[in-house]
Order: sequence, then structure tokens, then C-alpha cells
Amino acid sequence: MSDSIFAKIDTILDEIKSASPQDPEQLESYRIKYLGSKNVLKALFGLIKDVEPARKKDFGMKMNELKQTAQAVFDNSLETIESAGNDQARVEMDRTRPGYPLEVGARHPVSVVLNDMVDIFSRIGFVVSEDREIEDDWHNFTAMNTPEDHPARDMQDTFYLTNSIENLLRTHTSSVQARVMTTSKPPIRIIAPGRVYRNETVSARSHCQFHQVEGLYIDKNVSFADMKQTLLFFAQEMYGPQTKIRLRPSYFPFTEPSAEMDVWMGTETEKTRKLTKGTGWLEVLGCGMVDPNVLTNCGIDASVYSGFAFGIGIERSAMQKYDIGDIRQLFENDIRFLKQFQAAH
Ligand code: PHE
Repeated sequence: MSDSIFAKIDTILDEIKSASPQDPEQLESYRIKYLGSKNVLKALFGLIKDVEPARKKDFGMKMNELKQTAQAVFDNSLETIESAGNDQARVEMDRTRPGYPLEVGARHPVSVVLNDMVDIFSRIGFVVSEDREIEDDWHNFTAMNTPEDHPARDMQDTFYLTNSIENLLRTHTSSVQARVMTTSKPPIRIIAPGRVYRNETVSARSHCQFHQVEGLYIDKNVSFADMKQTLLFFAQEMYGPQTKIRLRPSYFPFTEPSAEMDVWMGTETEKTRKLTKGTGWLEVLGCGMVDPNVLTNCGIDASVYSGFAFGIGIERSAMQKYDIGDIRQLFENDIRFLKQFQAAH
């Protein structure tokens, strides 16, 4: 009986002597096993009642050796691990060591394209004018020649704020036209980039939030030809010097006449065929001569001044530029998606 107990002690002694915890984690499991409150030695101590009386003294000495060895191995390992840690700390304190590279962030594709557009228009004298996303009915609709019962209101599904039907999330950046015209005098030459909202079903092709760049130019003798030339300049800067544009008649309550501008993408590649639904033409923006009613609503003398306005959708250009197939990806902030634009400026 006693022999097998002594044999057990020897086995554990060997075990402890050959143990060499290498890191804080291993050291902690060693500590729990041999020195913790429920350690294996305690269980051995309990066996003293089974040791024959003549060998109880031997048993006590063996157990002491076991305990001291367990502690010594622990102390040694602790010291080794700590001094290795200090070496590491010394390396970190080395002031001549080259720095750790910082992870470089990436611009959101919408921001890249928005900045491109702002850049192009600022080169021909347009200044950026930003305004609120929570608008009132007057600036978003009424001032823009869209009275209460005007059927054009059905064109844009609006998010109204619950506390007041007067407040809404702007459905277009054209509201900034009204903000600027009521507070400044012509000549006016602004672009207004920003986020807009529409109560639409979210799908791969449309979202309930997106971005536009609004343009407004008001002065004496501003003509349709001025608008066309400005937009041609924009298209050629944006899509390349050979880019062709076409204006198709359209309708907006705040411009008369109104048009939509397409750029020629061609039908050679599958990508452009898909993008242009086989026509070769990509719809890029809405535009027109500012309706005299809008000028009058905003306190500008329509018999003296005229102007043009345009609104460009940003997401579509970003999707086309980076070959993004689903607009929802632009709003999900998935870091794996956004990282791909690291190289973009
Ligand atoms: N506000 C129009 C839209 O959101 C775009 C536009 C702006 C059209 C200015 C003409 C002039 O669709």
C-alpha cells in the first residue's frame, strides 16, 4: 500500500521537474495544477492516513521536497518569462528603431467622385454651398415651383418628420437653390453637394438615401447655350476629352425648358452595354433654365436675371467608375468593401 503511494509521489516529482512553462499562460496552468487551492499535492497529502506508521516521517519529507520543487520550478519560470518580457520592453524603448507603419485609411468611393465633381466646377468659378438635410416644405417644394397640389410632388416620395408635416428630409439638393437665392444677390454661381432622401424601396439599383451635386448659375443674360457649354466642359473633364453629350427634353417643375443629359459610353464592351441598357447613352444629370417663378419666389427680379440649374447623381457615377454592381454596398460601411478603394485619392 505505502509503496504505491511513494511511487505516485515520485511520478509527480518527475512531472514537476520536467515541466518548464514558457509563457504566462502556461505558467498559470502550472500554478493552478501544482500550487493552486485545489492542487494535486493536496490530494496526495490526504493519503497520509494510508501510509504505515513507520514510513509516515519519510512520507512527510518526500511531500516537502515535492512542494519545494513545485515552488522552485514556478519561481524559475516566472523569472525567465519576466526577463524575456523585459528584453521585449527594451526593444520597444529603442528610439532608433524604425516606426511601425500606420494603416492608411481609404476614401469612400462616393467622396472620391464628389470631390472630383467639386474640383471640376470650382475650376470654372463655382463655389461650394452646403445646407441642411432636414428642410421645410417651402424650400424643398413651394419655392421650387411645386405648390401643394402640384402633381410633380408625386414624383418624389418624401420622408416627412413625425413632429411636423412642415419638416422633411430633403428630396433633392435643389432646396439649396432656394436657400442661396433668398439670402444672396446675383451673380450667383454655386454648387451644392450633399445627401438626399426618398421613400423608395431599397434595391440593388435604388436606395432611400443618395447624393447629388446641385449647380446654380444666375446672372444677366444667361442662356441655354451657356448651360450646354458648362455641362459639356464638366462631361469632358469627368469622362475624358472626347466625351460626347446629348440633351433630351424633360420636365422639372423648377426649370423651363428642362432637359436630361446623357453621355456617350458606346456599345463596344459588355460593361457599357449593360450600363446604358444597350443604347450607348448614360443618363447623368437633370438640368434646365431656372423657371422665372422660382426666381420670383426667392426675391430675384426675373425680368433682369436668368439662369440655369442642374442636379447630378453621385452614386451612379461612383458605381460606374469602380464597377460596383449594387448601390447598397455604398451604404453598408463594410470595411472589406471600402478597403478596396485604398489606392483612390
Ligand atoms: N432636382 C432634380 C432631381 O432631383 C435634378 C435637377 C436639378 C433638375 C436642377 C434640374 C435642375 O431629380
